[in-house]
Amino acid sequence: MTGGLATPKSRVLPIWKFDVEAVRKDFPILGTVVHDKPLVYLDNAATSQKPLQVISALNQYYLTTNANIHRGVHHLSQKATTEYEAARDQVRAFLNARSTKEIVFVRGATEAINLVAQSFARPRFKAGDEILITHMEHHANIVPWQILRDQIGIVLRVAPINDNGELILEEFEKLITDKTKLVAVTQVSNALGTIVPVKQIIEMARSRSIPVLIDGCQAVPHIPVDVQSLDCDFYVFSGHKIFGPTGTGVLYGKEALLDSMPPYQGGGDMISSVTFEKTTYNELPYKFEAGTPHIAGGIGLAAALEYVSRIGLTQIADYEHELLEYATSVLEEIPRVRIIGNARPKASVISFVVEGLHPHDIGTILDHEGIAIRTGHHCAQPVMQRFDIPATSRASFAFYNRPDEADALAAGLRRAIEVLG
Ligand code: ALA
Repeated sequence: MTGGLATPKSRVLPIWKFDVEAVRKDFPILGTVVHDKPLVYLDNAATSQKPLQVISALNQYYLTTNANIHRGVHHLSQKATTEYEAARDQVRAFLNARSTKEIVFVRGATEAINLVAQSFARPRFKAGDEILITHMEHHANIVPWQILRDQIGIVLRVAPINDNGELILEEFEKLITDKTKLVAVTQVSNALGTIVPVKQIIEMARSRSIPVLIDGCQAVPHIPVDVQSLDCDFYVFSGHKIFGPTGTGVLYGKEALLDSMPPYQGGGDMISSVTFEKTTYNELPYKFEAGTPHIAGGIGLAAALEYVSRIGLTQIADYEHELLEYATSVLEEIPRVRIIGNARPKASVISFVVEGLHPHDIGTILDHEGIAIRTGHHCAQPVMQRFDIPATSRASFAFYNRPDEADALAAGLRRAIEVLG
């Protein structure tokens, strides 16, 4: 491994097959110096960095193409439309969806879940109907259902997790009743790293004809996803976690379901005709895309998906798994450190607490060492409540991270413990 951070331990690791130095060249921001130290960016679960390919797609769009889409006969408008629709097809291929009609561009996973709550669930569910989630959901997969609860009186059921942060499947299954109208679960926990067996969950739900929504935000950057093979009804993710621009995201929905749903927002582009008496709506997916979208963002997201697809998500998953194992082993050697979330399998997220120290203080000291982690509740307060802690420190790794950065984290943490006492 190159770089000035390596300790003897990481130098003696077997030569990993993944060429991390080659991919790092695509991310110039990783060369940033913070407080006179080389940046060690371990906050990828909050947002990932963007490769040159994505930055260049955004630049090119504004330099050569910028115009509104679906509206103009002029050259630039046609070009922008073609590129935006090609981006949609890239997303379709990435998820292996059947049709681009099933790919709705949104601002992020949060908007996608709110859309499903209001356009799918609200018109068809009634008071007493149940939605089943898990104890490790992000607030974005809790609060939209609570808003719906206040609107129409649905009941939110929460499946428990064990001390490792794994979903207790038997308990989950017991919570599926005649009243369950939707199952909405994360594929990977942002706070714990747990990889949830969504395939099994979808099978459980489908055998009872219950639709399933999967929150794939933390899954898509780390593991290959195929919505046809999963056979979920809705799949949502945010672009910025997968090396794309912020303010972009995707709602995948089975065509028949999306077709049966009313629009979420009204405005331009989502209509077919408008009079003061009556409006008819555009076809899928445009019915759900009111207003001028984040055109450059959609194109940038496609560039990000192309980028990770070229590297290969299986390769990424394998490399990150080794990185996770290594980082876990070096952190576990530090006295007073307790890792929160030891699920098998796990994505490359390590949440931890240090006995007697506040995560914010740890985060501040690490920042002075150039190390970026997230501290707090990670928009998953019920997870903190489950483990009876106010917050954790969280290091989340991407494929551009190196084992010597795990060493730097461990060294910084030892220093923080020394300084804070
Ligand atoms: N959901 C993001 C995180 O996990 C912001 O940090």
